[in-house]
Amino acid sequence: MKELVVNLNTGLHGDLEVPGDKSISHRSVILSSISEGTSHVHHFLASDDCISTINAFREMGVQIDLDGDELTVTGVGLHGLKEPQTKLDMGNSGTTTRLLSGLLSAQNFTTNLIGDDSLSKRPMKRVSEPLSMMGARIETTDGHLPMTINPGHIKAVKYELPIASAQVKSAIILAALNADADSVVIEPQVTRNHTETMLNQFGKDVIERDGNQIIVHHNPKLTAQDFNVPGDISSAAFFMVAATLVPNSHIVLKNVGINATRTGILDVLIKMGANVKLLNQTNSSEPTADIEVTYTPDLKPIDVTEESIPLMIDELPLVALLASRANGHSHITGAEELRFKETDRIQTVVLELQKLSIQITELSDGFSIDGSKDWRVANSSLDSHGDHRIGMTLAVAALLVDTSVQLDGEDAISISYPQFFDHLKRLCS
Ligand code: S3P
Repeated sequence: MKELVVNLNTGLHGDLEVPGDKSISHRSVILSSISEGTSHVHHFLASDDCISTINAFREMGVQIDLDGDELTVTGVGLHGLKEPQTKLDMGNSGTTTRLLSGLLSAQNFTTNLIGDDSLSKRPMKRVSEPLSMMGARIETTDGHLPMTINPGHIKAVKYELPIASAQVKSAIILAALNADADSVVIEPQVTRNHTETMLNQFGKDVIERDGNQIIVHHNPKLTAQDFNVPGDISSAAFFMVAATLVPNSHIVLKNVGINATRTGILDVLIKMGANVKLLNQTNSSEPTADIEVTYTPDLKPIDVTEESIPLMIDELPLVALLASRANGHSHITGAEELRFKETDRIQTVVLELQKLSIQITELSDGFSIDGSKDWRVANSSLDSHGDHRIGMTLAVAALLVDTSVQLDGEDAISISYPQFFDHLKRLCS
């Protein structure tokens, strides 16, 4: 149980470099492992989720050295992974599980995947079904972990994703690398494209994009790389929202990834009238910027609908928090995918924000929120429910209340941001 900082009228101040992007860090381990040569990854996110990915590849014979946020991976090539001697423990990580299920479907050995209680409740049919169409031989436990992946011969596929999910898209792409011909994946809405971007860094024209179709060239030559992971916009978002909402704040978040498939939170902040500026933008394949945020006393309400949900899927608890402080009524709809995250985030957000007397109602696919600055602590025992992003959202909410509040389940925050409380303290002092 952690006592949270409350009533921070002095504001957040200073510069901060947030840790590396989680999605990009996972993919850097995966693609370095299956390429030829030694890769060096700088500003790697050494959080619990990414360590689950590292451990899985170590079990399959890949030498991986992690020193702070510097990662060195001695790749074994596309066909060089070895049969692990133990079950592969995915921990809490949906990304590790879903991306690896694609890659492992094409191996000539069997793997067993297990995970923690939360991960074992999350749906895996969304990957096992399309992968089975490609020739994978996957046994799930009623559509969940534990899962056994038997050796399979992967056939090329043309597959239209029924849900907008970068994890499912990436699972199919990783399986398709080992297919007998080129494959096509069709996205209903654009989702984060880090797998495609990074594959084209490790190999030449592995992925081509034609409208909403992603063409995956099979059996590519992948060569080791040296690259920097940008700061995680999903981690920076907690401080962007805190600085927008807490009086007297002014911060600069340095070197944050602003890939257009991830910047929905910036669009929301700007539409609500927040004082946000992008400085020092770079134009690399994973573009970055410094993000300057200043306290904004009056925020407009917002309507977020289905098309833009994938661009801010992990930031929706924060969007709900922003709306809870706005002048008027906001709606977030088309977000039923939130029910399948580390917790049912529609339920956990509503349950926890109502403890602060926030007028938020659960919809089947999102939230309806009446904004107000008149928050009152009705129940001071806040709970992350074991969900890192819920825990950090509540720590930001606590900055805006007058009476002491505690957070249960704060340990979960190390899933994506082990230094979160240190960084919050630094900006608050
Ligand atoms: C991720 C994709 C998203 C996101 C998750 C990370 C990824 O999940 O919520 O935190 O790295 O591909 P879905 O693609 O399942 O929506």
